Amino acid sequence: MSKFVLSGGTPLRGAVRVPGAKNAVLPIIAAALLCDQEVEVDDCPDLSDVHNMLAIMERIGCRCRLQGGALTIDASSAHGWEMPEALGKELRSSIFMLGPVLARFHKARCPYPGGCEIGLRPINLHLKGLRAFNVGIREELGYIVCDGANMRPANILLDAPSVGATENLMMAAVGIDGVSTIQNAACEPEITDLAKLLNAMGARITGAGSPTIAVDGGHELHGVRHTLLSDRIVAGTYMVAAAITAGDLSIENVRPDHLESVLACLKEAGCTIDIEGTAGEPCRVRVRGPLRPRELHHIETQPHPGFPTDMQAQFFALACVAEGTSVITENVFENRFKHASELSCMGASIVLKDRTAVIRGVQTLTGAQVNARDLRGGAALTLAGLRARGESVIHGVEYIDRGYECLDKTLSSLGATIRRLA
Ligand code: EPZ
Repeated sequence: MSKFVLSGGTPLRGAVRVPGAKNAVLPIIAAALLCDQEVEVDDCPDLSDVHNMLAIMERIGCRCRLQGGALTIDASSAHGWEMPEALGKELRSSIFMLGPVLARFHKARCPYPGGCEIGLRPINLHLKGLRAFNVGIREELGYIVCDGANMRPANILLDAPSVGATENLMMAAVGIDGVSTIQNAACEPEITDLAKLLNAMGARITGAGSPTIAVDGGHELHGVRHTLLSDRIVAGTYMVAAAITAGDLSIENVRPDHLESVLACLKEAGCTIDIEGTAGEPCRVRVRGPLRPRELHHIETQPHPGFPTDMQAQFFALACVAEGTSVITENVFENRFKHASELSCMGASIVLKDRTAVIRGVQTLTGAQVNARDLRGGAALTLAGLRARGESVIHGVEYIDRGYECLDKTLSSLGATIRRLA
């Protein structure tokens, strides 16, 4: 397991450009199965989760190429409807394959998905929706076996606004003749980006980004070239890096309209935010951090447009050095405070009760040996190390590489003292 070795205390300064979104490109890779022509994606991030997803696609016969942010997928020779076990378990987003594989092959077999240990990560909503499409599903020996020979359109009401289930079912519906609807759909911007790609391929989807999505399915799809939505969580992470180091960062290729709750919390913490650009377009956002952050009265993670759960850990680290006492409640996942114990090793003062953390800010954190246990928790520990006095060693950088391109090199280019050791 690689590790980061870093020394804190330097305000970050400079400019950084945000790449395309991990959580947009992963379902889009699966969506390439829905046509027999090349799908090209610009601004694709170079991440281990992306490479694992492409490896799954190649195992079922697709030809994939990722070079310098340019991704090309040719699914014309796709033949496999069985997901490989090892890769499928490694990657939560392997579950997104079910919808497109069923739309293309009318059958599918995939292992129960893996992913970060931030909760049970059930897939009942995915399976309930597929059953509504008349997919026969049986679970055997850790695998899900689907029979989609007689799929038909349906009106689905999700019990919870699941991002993955919304994306999976939207892609399945694209391959089913007739009009299907998904109610209580998730509204994350990555879903809108997926629908934008699918419609450019010839699908007829309306309502993506709202709680009710309609799909007029069964139409022939064709190849497309798509520019990926920028990664709002990577953008937010660099904004918190400016906030926690009393730095001054210009962050390029940001959609502020996708980060309204995050920007509000940064202002509450005492940051100065300047936005250059047109609303609804990629902008430049300048974030200047205060000498010491102010307390965050109460952050509650919610489905979009609420405060994103993927930014919880980063603000948790910020709260550890804020004046006063901050409260953070994690409403989306049931086990997403694993970074708390590690931050305590750095001198943070934290009380956890169920899904709520009460964090009394301390003047300084001290560097320590800590372990990343999931992707965003690892990013949070890195941010804390940028503030802490002395040297920190962050083990488990593989988690961080799932969602951040060369985080160490980028932070180093902004003035941080950080290096990666194998
Ligand atoms: C997506 O995961 C993202 N991953 C996650 O980002 C993100 O945290 C999450 O959405 C919420 O925004 C990708 O897009 C690849 P959910 P997903 O289904 O689809 C429960 C990151 O750090 N649920 O919206 O798995 C589930 O347990 C990652 O980039 C069911 O109960 O999230 C959770 O409590 C982490 N049954 C809640 O819904 C189901 O069938 C939200 O999960 C599915 C989900």
